[in-house]
Amino acid sequence: MSAYKFIDHKFDVVVVGAGGSGLRAALGAAQAGLKTACITKVFPTRSHTVAAQGGISASLGNMSHDDWRWHMFDTVKGSDWLGDQDAIEYLTRNAPAAVYELEHWGVPFSRTSDGKIYQRAFGGMTKNFGEGPIQRTCAAADRTGHAMLHTMYGQSLAHDTEFFIEYFALDLIMDDGVCRGVTAWKLDDGTLHRFQAQMVILATGGYGRAYFSATSAHTCTGDGNAMALRAGLPLQDMEFVQFHPTGIYGAGCLITEGARGEGGYLTNSEGERFMERYAPSVKDLAPRDMVSRAMTIEIREGRGVGPNKDHIFLHLDHLDPKILHERLPGISETAKVFAGVDVTKAPIPVLPTVHYNMGGIPTNYHGEVVTKNGDNPDQVIPGLMAVGEAACVSVHGANRLGSNSLIDLVVFGRAAALRCAEILKPGAKQPELKDAQTEAHLARFDRFRNASGSTGTAELRLEMQKAMQEDAAVFRTGESLESGVKRLQSVWDKKSDIKVSDRGLVWNTDLMETLEFDNLIGQAVVTVNGAVNRTESRGAHAREDFADRNDAEWMKHTLAWLDNQSGKVKIDYRPVHSYTMSDDIAYIPPKQRVY
Ligand code: FUM
Repeated sequence: MSAYKFIDHKFDVVVVGAGGSGLRAALGAAQAGLKTACITKVFPTRSHTVAAQGGISASLGNMSHDDWRWHMFDTVKGSDWLGDQDAIEYLTRNAPAAVYELEHWGVPFSRTSDGKIYQRAFGGMTKNFGEGPIQRTCAAADRTGHAMLHTMYGQSLAHDTEFFIEYFALDLIMDDGVCRGVTAWKLDDGTLHRFQAQMVILATGGYGRAYFSATSAHTCTGDGNAMALRAGLPLQDMEFVQFHPTGIYGAGCLITEGARGEGGYLTNSEGERFMERYAPSVKDLAPRDMVSRAMTIEIREGRGVGPNKDHIFLHLDHLDPKILHERLPGISETAKVFAGVDVTKAPIPVLPTVHYNMGGIPTNYHGEVVTKNGDNPDQVIPGLMAVGEAACVSVHGANRLGSNSLIDLVVFGRAAALRCAEILKPGAKQPELKDAQTEAHLARFDRFRNASGSTGTAELRLEMQKAMQEDAAVFRTGESLESGVKRLQSVWDKKSDIKVSDRGLVWNTDLMETLEFDNLIGQAVVTVNGAVNRTESRGAHAREDFADRNDAEWMKHTLAWLDNQSGKVKIDYRPVHSYTMSDDIAYIPPKQRVY
């Protein structure tokens, strides 16, 4: 592809993505004296972490006594026993220090009357190994992600991370199973770049936009996951997609679970607080998979609200307006703008909406990407790490607890940086890159740039999003998932007829959206194939034809490889880590999830 010339860069560490996990990893690597770059397709403070509302979990014990072991127990139970318990121990025991680090960097947390970090209740967070709700989620009103992102970007600028902003990452540079760097397209001047590094850290977030209605930003296209698939690496547990119970009906915008943490509750058309029937002890503060299923059942059984009986009400109108103003100002405004509702006077119309991907690039708790190689299920891919929603560590297993995402970002962003400091030598010599390593990157880029078929990208994207929304929903059946597999294969096949109208290289949003669509469709295909293959119900994967969890057969992680020519998926498995990291807590054996 001599028509394209790369501009070359060499770093010790290249982080792709500038959300919470990317910034934390980049900051830590730079602090360790490693020459670090952070490349990002949006300005750092516009990364999707900015939209995280309700808070960040950590057993600080500011509202009542708490213990990281209780947090660990809740996370294992929330994950429906698909989470890796060594990684969950790492997350929960390091969480308090990670929150204090953010506080010291300047995150403006809300405060208790005695000046401590304010903590609110969130779904599935309990005291004393499941006894009843606890206030564990540290909050900066309902703009916690916003506060974290701005603080961490500020901190990053105080260190020597070099930012490459509005660079769209294309593909991983692989050399005989080792990652040597990443290629990227600079959106504002059209140049192409080759970033060589001893370590590439993918912090590219989730792929919520594979669905029609998602709380995720339009930028959430899982670019790193797709790069891993194209590099011949598997993705893990992609069938587990989280629906947040309270997306605004029709608009999809998030109304934080913190609303229920502050005393909000859901009602059906009979005015009934129906969560009392589904989760008698924690009610509206059950984990998200359970609340989303309960809402879907209420609607299906004719007890939805509104003219079409197709949504549910979230009440905050009984709460003190002063509390709403202080603790939930963001969602009060969102409800006004997107639902025309004054939350002090009327309920908000809500519906379960795609929110988070539990699946992603398999890693160990140092952030190193792993794959299965023969009998070794934990083979490390040298030179490659993944953190945040792009990664599957796996601490969230089959269902993530609310507020465990923000803590995952900073704990594992830091862990990845610590590992880099341990295994890399600043300025170590790196092998010469070869043109052959990037030929496929350029061929894909050029093919889409010059695509002259008859189907526009937006049309194909919509077809994919509708198929995902309808066939890989809160409840699934073999039939709906088979239909999803067929519909997505048909979208995949139509890629050969795609049409891109803009042939330019500068701010070519037509081409960028096409590359993003190509990233999404691969992940959508892997998701439905994983879902049809898993013949049990666990966490967010609720099969009506296989209604029970089946630990004997299915307490294992799905690994899925994508054939990038045919769109066919190959599936294998990794064992769940049924052991802890230390002797400070014993393995938590599986039980039924009752709340
Ligand atoms: O409901 C929320 O504020 C979302 C939090 C999360 O996904 O962790």
